[in-house]
Amino acid sequence: MRRRNKIAVVGAGNVGATTAQKVLELNLGDVVLVDVVEGVPQGKGLDLAESAPVVGLNGYISGTNGYEATANSDLIIITAGLARKPGMSRDDLLAANVKIVAEVAKSAAPLSPDAVIIVVTNPMDVMAYVVAQVSGFPKERVIGMGGVLDSARFRAFISFELGVSVENTHAFVLGGHGDAMVPLPRFSTVAGIPITELMTPERIAALVDRTKNGGAEIVGLLKTGSAYYAPAASTAQMAEAILMDQKKVLPCSVYLNGEYGHSGVYAGVPVMLGAGGAEKVFEIKLTAEEQAAFDKSADAVAKGQAATGF
Ligand code: NAI
Ligand code: 2OP
Repeated sequence: MRRRNKIAVVGAGNVGATTAQKVLELNLGDVVLVDVVEGVPQGKGLDLAESAPVVGLNGYISGTNGYEATANSDLIIITAGLARKPGMSRDDLLAANVKIVAEVAKSAAPLSPDAVIIVVTNPMDVMAYVVAQVSGFPKERVIGMGGVLDSARFRAFISFELGVSVENTHAFVLGGHGDAMVPLPRFSTVAGIPITELMTPERIAALVDRTKNGGAEIVGLLKTGSAYYAPAASTAQMAEAILMDQKKVLPCSVYLNGEYGHSGVYAGVPVMLGAGGAEKVFEIKLTAEEQAAFDKSADAVAKGQAATGF
């Protein structure tokens, strides 16, 4: 008999706890919430378990400060680490978060050798690289979440601008999940119509700019931390695509092996997600300008990777 999926969510802060809630509400499996702070994963786990009778959830959730209970997870979601405060870039988190994600990967990966890992901790593309190096997992099973969030922000802004349903919008943001990310208006549509047909170049430029600064806009408003509802929803969508073997095509950060002219670097590209993780990378022909922006973004990640010592 096939058992239910097990999902380890490491980091029980804003993103981790909200992701755990979403994953449970999608009935994707049982969740083990892990954090270093004593009582927090246990408390949030119990609180979520107590929501189950009301919401009608079948999954079981537990919280712990160790890793034993995560053994044989199908999916590990890493959200542990510091988040941005106003004035900080994602790269400012690098040194502290390298140590944290390396420790998490070292502890969690050997207990769940067949798992897929989704990395959320920032600077995410660099952290995905560290997790891939430390875990030794095949690269297609270590995937970063960033493009789904950035594309969701672009979609929301398109919907605000045109007053159309968000469901009609599609958007692609490629490259690293950093200041040099690459929103692609040519591949962003409303009911299949490219937005380049629906808005002036000036309005598109404004939406692209807002998308690039989407994370900072929320940090500026919250002041004490960064976004978590949209990040958790985006992570849960990737989790569902993997655990349900949906073959969904989403922008995700994967280890490039020559695709888009880059090798040995994690960057966001269109990926087919299924049970095997990043099962396929779709290569689309970029214009010279788009390619130059992608190169700049991937090169920034490569620089970050080199600074990690891994
Ligand atoms: P948070 O501060 O609310 O939660 C982080 C949690 O990690 C805390 O509970 C902390 O105790 C825990 N932690 C620290 N060291 C740990 C360790 N060694 N093992 C286990 N847990 C540990 O922060 P939030 O808002 O949840 O963000 C988490 C990370 O995700 C940040 O790095 C943030 O920048 C990143 N992020 C990335 C996004 C993306 O699109 N890739 C989107 C949103 C956030
Ligand atoms: C965001 O884009 C902080 O990376 C996070 O909101």
